[in-house]
Amino acid sequence: MCGYIFLLVVLGFGSATGKTGIRKLEKLNVDPRSVTVTGFSSGGAQAMQFHLAHSSRILGAGIFSGVPYLYGFGRKREDFFVNDIERFNTTEAIHATETYSIVGAIDPVEYLKNSKVYVYHGNRDSTEAVLPLKTFTNILDPPCCVTSTFWRPTDNYGGPCGRLNLANYMVNNCKYNGVYEMYNHLYGGNLTQPLMGSVGTVPIKGEFYYFDQSEFYVWGTPHSMDKVGFVYVPSECAKKSCRLSFVFHGCLQNRQYFGDKFPRTTGYLEVAELNNIIQVYPQTARSTGTPRNPSGCWDWMGFTGEEYREL
Ligand SMILES: *[C@@H]1O[C@H](CO)[C@@H](O)[C@H](O)[C@H]1NC(C)=O
Ligand SMILES: *[C@@H]1O[C@H](CO)[C@@H](O)[C@H](O)[C@H]1NC(C)=O
Repeated sequence: MCGYIFLLVVLGFGSATGKTGIRKLEKLNVDPRSVTVTGFSSGGAQAMQFHLAHSSRILGAGIFSGVPYLYGFGRKREDFFVNDIERFNTTEAIHATETYSIVGAIDPVEYLKNSKVYVYHGNRDSTEAVLPLKTFTNILDPPCCVTSTFWRPTDNYGGPCGRLNLANYMVNNCKYNGVYEMYNHLYGGNLTQPLMGSVGTVPIKGEFYYFDQSEFYVWGTPHSMDKVGFVYVPSECAKKSCRLSFVFHGCLQNRQYFGDKFPRTTGYLEVAELNNIIQVYPQTARSTGTPRNPSGCWDWMGFTGEEYREL
């Protein structure tokens, strides 16, 4: 479930096979110091796991309504909307993270000190939720403006701020461009903001295409991954070196449920086009057998095996 293999491919080991339909990931010119991970809900958990496991290669992580590293391990309940922070022992999570680092199951935690993290959560979320990460990194935890626990904020699109808007794929119009603020923090504070609004205001002049994920997985092993993911290559990136970001959808937000609405309704593409950020959107697949993942979540509970939290 870990996405490291994608990194190798986008950094130069892939090859293009055609211009239409589903393509192989192609070779692109990427600055290896510019790699970020971001996501929402279980995708936020995945971004956090990816960051901790591969911190030597990750510049930073942008997490919207995620859960702490190791929060879900061993859960037997439904695979999302679990909100029982009182069950989570922060001291133990920090200790476990240090142990994985020492035995080499994840990159040394020392790398995290130089990376950046952006965490967005509602003001009803427990602040304790991000404590394990606070131990190892400097976090920008933006002040929270509305009473809610769970959403992705934009400044021009979505349901009412402060509510759980399932019909809008959990996008809320909060007069706050969350994706821009997140990338601007991770990339040093000099990005171009879509001035007319988060979503639908910037011409997406680059190439958005579907790529073949199946070459990265051993079929027949439990993985709960789709055969296809999405890539966005901003218009300038065919010619010059660009940034790279992996973007992880939430539960019930993969291609099977919503096609490509996740990249198209959250403001990710607009900020990418203006700031030369190549984006890879790996896609899960729902799985009702083994592993049990009926909502197409990223694995934050260990349903694909204990390695979900490692390199
Ligand atoms: C958390 O775990 C530590 C170490 O195992 C233990 O000493 C402590 O009592 C636990 N805290 C709670 C609130 O259970
Ligand atoms: C910010 O962007 C401007 C315009 O591209 C550039 O001149 C300046 O050097 C950048 N500053 C930083 C700190 O990157």
